[in-house]
Amino acid sequence: MYFPIYRPRRLRKTEAMRALVRETSLTVNDLIYPLFITYGKNVKKEIPSMPGQFQLSIDKLDAEIEEISNLGIPAVILFGLPETKDSGASGAFAEDGIVQEAIRAIKKINIDLIVVTDVCLCEYMDHGHCGVARDGKILNDLSLELLAKTGLSHAEAGADIVAPSDMMDGRVSAIRAQLDAGGFSDTPIMSYAAKYASSFYGPFRDAADSAPTFGDRRAYQMDPSNVMEALRETSLDVEEGADIIMVKPALSYLDVIATVRAEFDYPLAAYNVSGEYSIIKAAAEKGWIDERKVAMEVLTSIKRAGADIILTYHAKDAAKWLKE
Ligand code: PBG
Repeated sequence: MYFPIYRPRRLRKTEAMRALVRETSLTVNDLIYPLFITYGKNVKKEIPSMPGQFQLSIDKLDAEIEEISNLGIPAVILFGLPETKDSGASGAFAEDGIVQEAIRAIKKINIDLIVVTDVCLCEYMDHGHCGVARDGKILNDLSLELLAKTGLSHAEAGADIVAPSDMMDGRVSAIRAQLDAGGFSDTPIMSYAAKYASSFYGPFRDAADSAPTFGDRRAYQMDPSNVMEALRETSLDVEEGADIIMVKPALSYLDVIATVRAEFDYPLAAYNVSGEYSIIKAAAEKGWIDERKVAMEVLTSIKRAGADIILTYHAKDAAKWLKE
């Protein structure tokens, strides 16, 4: 069918007509909101490179969790800023670690809010890498033990979903085994399956104080040039027992989201990362773009590419905008 018989503009005449034929809709049920939990008391510190996002101490969680819950956002993902770091990431799996305490506090405020935890070592290692370091190298197999302990300690504290983001080989099966052995065979794993060594994480590393003190993460996170490798990484995680798979970042990797979506029948998450948020914030502050319209367009694009779940710093704004 072609012009003048077919005229695509017929279905674009009014908002009601456009809504009737809309292929993708974003809903609040799709969103996970990241929170940065810090040691200390009475801390609510705005992250300079991420306007509108804060490091919060546990005693400041009441108001935050209430707001998130009232907006109908179903889930949060927690990142921790411990008081001290060491070469064995002991804070990552401490029973009274920052994330473990935050989980308990959140569950007291709203037991129904889904608490996802980022399972990684970078925030707890004095060198800022996601695994155990020796002679300037990150050792894979030694890191697995610490990651598995961390995943189990989160589940013990009450986490609903654990989400390994470290990119060590074999970490999903290591965490699955430890969870099962510890009596948490019902706790799902959301794996950062295709996580790229991206410069879009810059603002996050300020937020979570997790920048590596030497080198970079390219020996464990994926090369941004690769997409077939994303399929291999995802197959490994699925075979190892991942329940939800993730592509990260989202916006520069929409093709990866679409490719993974086409190949796997698992729930798919995408992480709309810190740099993607900061770019929109900065341009909006300058008056160059309309924050609301651009952010909603970005989130809709991520869904259209095939994501079922979006982790985004715009979750609270999006929830408000979706209500209006
Ligand atoms: C921890 C982790 C990072 C992010 C999520 N988990 C940082 C990194 O890998 O360097 C990035 C999230 C963001 O940029 O919003 N490994």
